[in-house]
Amino acid sequence: KRPAGAPDKALAQKVTKVGVIGAGLMASQFALLFVRRLQVPVVITDLDQARVDKGLDYIRNEIDALLSKKRISPDEANRLNALVSGTTDKRDFADCDFVIEAVFEELGVKQDVFADVEQYISDTTILATNTSSLSVEKIGEKLAHPERLVGFHFFNPVAVMPLIEVVKTPQTTPEALATAMATAAKLRKNAVITRDTPGFVVNRVLAKLLGEAMYAVDHGTSFEVVDQAMAPLGLPMPPSQLLDLVGLKVGAHVLDTHHNAFPDRFYRSDNLHKLAEYGTLLEKDSKGKVKGF
Ligand code: CAA
Repeated sequence: KRPAGAPDKALAQKVTKVGVIGAGLMASQFALLFVRRLQVPVVITDLDQARVDKGLDYIRNEIDALLSKKRISPDEANRLNALVSGTTDKRDFADCDFVIEAVFEELGVKQDVFADVEQYISDTTILATNTSSLSVEKIGEKLAHPERLVGFHFFNPVAVMPLIEVVKTPQTTPEALATAMATAAKLRKNAVITRDTPGFVVNRVLAKLLGEAMYAVDHGTSFEVVDQAMAPLGLPMPPSQLLDLVGLKVGAHVLDTHHNAFPDRFYRSDNLHKLAEYGTLLEKDSKGKVKGF
């Protein structure tokens, strides 16, 4: 069944090489998914070689983990490793037909990143942004061809979360949208097409949930009590753990964005910004398993 609002599949362009801008945790996670599911070359870039190397290390470690869990064969591991590369030279993006960014969640930064990469790519390259709450249309404002831009919003952890929010702006062409939908299907994710509105669908709901949890904490309830109180709802993880997973800094930023867009509807927490300076809420063991508060 064709997802609501999806254009004809036949309009999708072939994706034979993917460019990833940003080599942070989200970008590295989806770079691995692209290489694994599309089996095409994936090149990642960032501001400097150290950041690129960190992203490549993450990907190569995850490939090793898949190999040791016997999810992939040694041949497959070699093939995936050979398909991934890193660069600080945007000319390596010249033959990418799908370029996606996950750089800092700030409008000006994303606008400049796209305006810059557009100088190196072909006119038919599709551009995608992993923004979680900024306007995709505004992100494309400095592009010569904003009609090729779509939102392509993954969730953390990318390997297991089944959804991608595909965001259509008033300019997005049916070809760009069809390519995004076909790519999401190849990644074996469910894709929904959402309006270009702050937080799209999922982060609006999460910002409400996490915002109210933070409101309770900021007014004297402990995180332990909030988590225990929420347990009967059957969430896959309690609010404190979800905040840690998303990252306190990102979480605080997401709450701010929603509050700025809808001040009467969303709570922003100064306290969460302060907590973010300390890093995490929960102690974890060396394997990343949560030990508790
Ligand atoms: N990275 C990669 N894989 C991970 C992972 C991670 N961080 N965390 C878990 N996994 C994998 C595990 O390796 C395991 O895979 P295998 O079966 O291949 O071994 C699988 O997920 C299940 O892991 P667990 O056995 O630890 O299972 P769990 O039942 O504890 O589930 C969870 C873990 C899937 C993360 C689950 O707790 C969950 O769904 N939590 C909610 C996550 C969520 O809501 N994410 C959205 C955040 S919001 C966001 O991302 C948007 C934004 O813009 C801010």
